Amino acid sequence: MVTGAGVSAASGVPTFRSADGLWSNFRVEELATAEAFSRNPRLVWEWYEWRRNRIAACEPNRAHEVLAAWSRHYPKFTLVTQNVDGLHERAGTRNVVRFHASIWELSCWRSCGASPGRWRDDTTPLPAIPPPCPHCGGLARPGVVWFGEAIDPAVLEESLAALDCDVCLVVGTSAVVYPAAGLADEARRRGAYTIEINPEATDATPRFDLAIAGRAEEVLDEIERALGG
Ligand code: OAD
Repeated sequence: MVTGAGVSAASGVPTFRSADGLWSNFRVEELATAEAFSRNPRLVWEWYEWRRNRIAACEPNRAHEVLAAWSRHYPKFTLVTQNVDGLHERAGTRNVVRFHASIWELSCWRSCGASPGRWRDDTTPLPAIPPPCPHCGGLARPGVVWFGEAIDPAVLEESLAALDCDVCLVVGTSAVVYPAAGLADEARRRGAYTIEINPEATDATPRFDLAIAGRAEEVLDEIERALGG
């Protein structure tokens, strides 16, 4: 399973590439980079703070619930998510691989070397923007993966291992951000039957074995009911 922002849309979390995903008219590519942060940490933190507060007010939806049920039912189920919102975990999903890490974790901008390198902080609202690193007192940054940054090698390895499967479902992603967008192609190369679930066609749609045009919360519910769940 590979999921993207569309899975959380019905929970009220804005997707990145839709009109309501825009924040103060900035595109995600202008905010989620180390360059943007070094230029204006406050601006970037204000965007993350807006998203953190928004997500904190959201609940998992039917799509998260069905995937959580499958993770309990199918021993080899692995869910690789691009989402940083934590809603899969809140729904009780097992075997979640967080490809882009978590919006609920912070790290030191200067990598001051304190351990742990990343720490959880789900305080909403944060008492100070930008928040300080509790170890060195310098700037803390969101612990998520930004454009131009490498995926944690252990996370990449776990994700690739999950692609050795019979069926790979790819739900709610525009398939434009690599390397995540290449996961379905890799699964297909390894012999998996690949299925896309998305109300809109994406550039990747023609490459799937099956493309189901529909919303995650409706299509997954229908599949679950067909399976007798
Ligand atoms: P996008 O915002 O690019 O795409 C969301 C996709 O979800 C679109 O293709 C929509 O058609 C689809 N969608 C909308 N509502 C849906 C629903 N109810 N059910 C199913 N699909 C629906 O989000 P991602 O592809 O996840 O990176 O974006 C990839 C990465 O870009 C994110 O992980 C983020 C961003 O920069 C980081 O945070 C590093």
